[in-house]
Amino acid sequence: MSVKIGFIGCGGIAGAHMSRLAKLEDVEFSAMCDIERGRAEKAAESYGGKVYTDFKKMLNEAEMDACFICVPPFAHKGQEEVCIKKGVPFFVEKPIHLKLKSAQEIAKKVRAKGIITSVGYVLRYFDVVDTAREVLAKEQISAVLGRYFGEVPHAGKGWYGKKALSGGQLIEQATHTVDMMRYLLGEVKEVFAYSAGGINKKIYKGYDVEDTSTTLLKFKRGYIGNLTCTWLWSGWNNSVDVVGKGFLLNYAGNSITIQRSGKKVTYISSVDPMLEEDRAFIKAVAQKDKSVIRSDYPDAVKTLAVSLKAYESMRTGKPVKL
Ligand SMILES: NC(=O)c1ccc[n+]([C@@H]2O[C@H](COP(=O)([O-])OP(=O)(O)OC[C@H]3O[C@@H](n4cnc5c(N)ncnc54)[C@H](O)[C@@H]3O)[C@@H](O)[C@H]2O)c1
Repeated sequence: MSVKIGFIGCGGIAGAHMSRLAKLEDVEFSAMCDIERGRAEKAAESYGGKVYTDFKKMLNEAEMDACFICVPPFAHKGQEEVCIKKGVPFFVEKPIHLKLKSAQEIAKKVRAKGIITSVGYVLRYFDVVDTAREVLAKEQISAVLGRYFGEVPHAGKGWYGKKALSGGQLIEQATHTVDMMRYLLGEVKEVFAYSAGGINKKIYKGYDVEDTSTTLLKFKRGYIGNLTCTWLWSGWNNSVDVVGKGFLLNYAGNSITIQRSGKKVTYISSVDPMLEEDRAFIKAVAQKDKSVIRSDYPDAVKTLAVSLKAYESMRTGKPVKL
């Protein structure tokens, strides 16, 4: 039996999911929705499905077993709630929302109705991350150093550089590193953050988010850390270093390197993590078993909370508890 899929949002990341889903045997595209009709039409031409410009109409009319929500952060305006009401499992791209309270309310409804959900924290699906988690579980960790260095996406055009639309780099993109820190090391209990700006503002029209941020983190398990992020770099550099006694684990992109007692071993991932992420969601929907999903909606709320509390700290100049 094939799993019928609908898409809300047919932009960049939606296309990346569609091309992976098309590789899976048991998937059928039943509906494509975008407020820009041409984008939904283009997706439907390539993969099939009825075209919509209104997600409520799509969820009312189209037959579907699951929905992919791939809209920008500012555009979460009831898509998840309608899926929950209709009992439709959903995959949603990060960041899941710009408002913590709204995300918490959605999570409550997801739990109450037992809806299968998955969130696009794609880095969790690298096989080397499994190895990192196994190794770290046996180490006495003391310090954590994360970084997310990148450039403003879409060459500074569009919504990424606008606070009201994207939320800023720490919530929009560096959320991947926040999430990786949580996945590897457990929950954060307090943050204290600073930001710097003024450079990108002179280059990109309407840019009003931080150029750079640095966040101190206290983890529940006792260790301390820092996450430094910037949108001034030209390229992509995302890593997490974890330090213990005579031990250093470095996660970077698709690899991990472990150094201990003068020995250094690097593991490179052999999987396409987005294909694995999509495969897991489809399997969960088909078998009504969410155990293969590595990030569900309620868990992703905790990642969102870290970034939002860090922004609160930047505004108030004080440490903020989670
Ligand atoms: N997991 C990842 O690695 C990854 C990578 C890139 C983007 N993303 C995330 O995916 C989300 C979308 O990013 P993108 O790069 O695809 O953006 P995009 O601007 O390329 O596409 C978004 C699409 O959503 C459509 N849209 C907006 N509001 C809508 C609505 N109410 N109903 C239907 N369609 C609507 C837009 O018209 C556009 O076509 C963002 O949250 C981004 O952070 C995740």
